[in-house]
This record gives sequence, structure tokens and C-alpha cells, in this order.
Amino acid sequence: MSSQPPFPAFRVLISHDEILRRTHELARAIAQATGDEPPMLVAVIEGALPFARLLQRLLPGQLPVHEVRASSYGSGKTSSGEVKVTVGRDLGVRGRHVLLVEDIVDTGRTVHALQRHLLAAGAKSCRVAALLSKPSRRVVDVAIDHVGFLIPDEFVLGFGMDLAGRYRELPDVVVYDADVERAFTSAVAAR
Ligand code: IMP
Repeated sequence: MSSQPPFPAFRVLISHDEILRRTHELARAIAQATGDEPPMLVAVIEGALPFARLLQRLLPGQLPVHEVRASSYGSGKTSSGEVKVTVGRDLGVRGRHVLLVEDIVDTGRTVHALQRHLLAAGAKSCRVAALLSKPSRRVVDVAIDHVGFLIPDEFVLGFGMDLAGRYRELPDVVVYDADVERAFTSAVAAR
């Protein structure tokens, strides 16, 4: 039997424990900010689902998690620039305070497009909670009301975030490294 880990040994940027600790703090701040009128949780799928489900567990009221999808990244690492709402176009947000839950805000295009979409659909307000933000990459100026961690311009994976569908299930947030991935793939092939 081999002791090789099931994934490449990418560098851990934010551990699962740190994510849990910080999300507890965010949930407290969100509950305080929203007061008596619980928000409608709208998660950007698929990446934000683990973060949204964790928030759901920590917020009072057993709020359901609704899903939207915005296509911007395709299967690669660079943004196409255009963002289209492809899932959750009709969530019934009219008159509701929405909390848009995102895994990572990079250029800001996705959050900007979704906020516009939700407000145009009649949401009373649309606040944003993002686990991660890369401020140095911003192209569109968006306000993030609740942010977990500010990170440098690195491509990260895990806790829902993927590269072409890979590594979403990693519990920590790690930094993608093509060399580490290649070395792992060769080691597995040589077994
Ligand atoms: P934005 O529209 O450029 O802000 O990009 C937001 C979306 O891009 C996120 O919801 C992610 O799906 C994806 N994204 C941006 N940076 C990363 C990253 O470092 N790792 C994984 N996905 C990312």
C-alpha cells in the first residue's frame, strides 16, 4: 500500500480550521447586520456552495440556500470578461433582502452582474458575503459587505473552488501549482 496522499501537495493558504473560525465571525456579523428580517441566501454555484452551507448552519432560522450560476470562467483560469446569469434567473427575490454568497471575488464582474440582475428582479437589497477576495485583480468596483480573507493574486483551489472541475473537494484553500500537479500525476502513473 502507498502512503501517497490522494491529491497533489499544493501549498495550503487557508486551512479548514481557519475557514471555520472566520465563517463563525462572519455569520455573527451577518446576523447582526440583518436583524429581524432574515436574508435570502443566494449562492453562486458551484464554488460557493460549501461556504454557503456553512453559513446556513451558523445563521439563525434554517434559511434555504438558493442557487445562481453566472458563467464567466469557462473551464480555464482566465476570465472571458462577459458574465451571463444561466441558472436561477427567476428566484423570486422581489421584496426580499438578498445575501449573495460567493467563494471568491476576483475581477468583480460576476458579483457586479449578479447584483444588477437581482436588484432588477426586485430584490430590496443585495449584500455580498465572499469567503475570499483578491483586491489586486479588481476591474469592477464592487462593495463586499462581508469578506472572509483578502488574498494575493494567486489561483486557489479547494473548499468548493476548482480548476476545470478538479480539487473542489479539498478541505483547505490551496494554491494551484502546475509543477506540483505534474509531479503528482507522474508519481501516480509510475506506481
Ligand atoms: P470574477 O467575476 O472575476 O470576480 O470571478 C469570480 C469567479 O471566478 C469566482 O466565482 C470563481 O468561480 C472564479 N475564480 C476567480 N479566481 C479564482 C481562483 O483563484 N480559483 C478558482 N476560481 C476562481
